[in-house]
Amino acid sequence: MPTQDVTFVHLTDLHISAPALEDETLFGDSEGALRRSLAEIARMDPRPEFVVISGDLANRGEVESYRHLRAILDEAAPEVPVILALGNHDDRAGFAAAFPERASGAGPYDHDLVVSGLHVIVLDSSIPTGVEGGWEPGQMDWLAARLDAHAGLPKLLVIHHPPMLDEAKGAAFPWKSLTLPATRALRETIAGRDVVGILSGHIHLDRAESWHGVPVIIGAGHHAASDPVAMGETLRMLDATGFAICTLRPSGLGVTFVPHPQTRALAHEMSLDALRAYIAEKYGEPA
Ligand SMILES: [Fe+2]
Repeated sequence: MPTQDVTFVHLTDLHISAPALEDETLFGDSEGALRRSLAEIARMDPRPEFVVISGDLANRGEVESYRHLRAILDEAAPEVPVILALGNHDDRAGFAAAFPERASGAGPYDHDLVVSGLHVIVLDSSIPTGVEGGWEPGQMDWLAARLDAHAGLPKLLVIHHPPMLDEAKGAAFPWKSLTLPATRALRETIAGRDVVGILSGHIHLDRAESWHGVPVIIGAGHHAASDPVAMGETLRMLDATGFAICTLRPSGLGVTFVPHPQTRALAHEMSLDALRAYIAEKYGEPA
């Protein structure tokens, strides 16, 4: 743990689409929500030490959308490091074309840095052929090596897909989580390490979980939020967005969710059967 407080911001699931693309799969004003988060960050007192954005940066992965995101970030110009991760809606090549100083587009976008005494490690859990999350060969070896590189520093992991929290029941959401093998591999690799938290997104809910003693912080994001009181056979997405302010203290990680103005009105509704069929068509997975 650090000897003094470190405050940082967690954004997730931006789902940005360039306006010219006329994206019919957007159910909310994701760009407006991102601009609001960035404006709120600009007036934070004290300032955050860094900003994490944990994937689904673009809604459909077009390079134009990543360029549009870059323009929004450049305009806001947060004077702190902005750490980016990729999610299942992202496209590695499209991202790399717009952010060539960050990524090559070849292989998973894994990276790490030391900031404010924290070792922040970003893992790319996106599987180009699936909605769930997992690892390609070598990613856990890379993680183990990076954990060794700064063995004495507290670790903050950024992974778009949260771990599978209930291994007996499986993923609680139709769009899943890390797979069970990926969840177990992650657990084995970080065992005994000083991992102070995992920042995730993907399920579009403000949620804090404890996973074998590691806090998992999940954000509702900037598109539309899952309806937490209606998780049956219908997927309900609500007008609700926001971000989170996190503080790592010597006693552990705390999170304050910062909701945007929201109606929580129904923004999109879909039966789970229709959603499974959509996932099967998009990714070639069995419905
Ligand atoms: Fe998302």
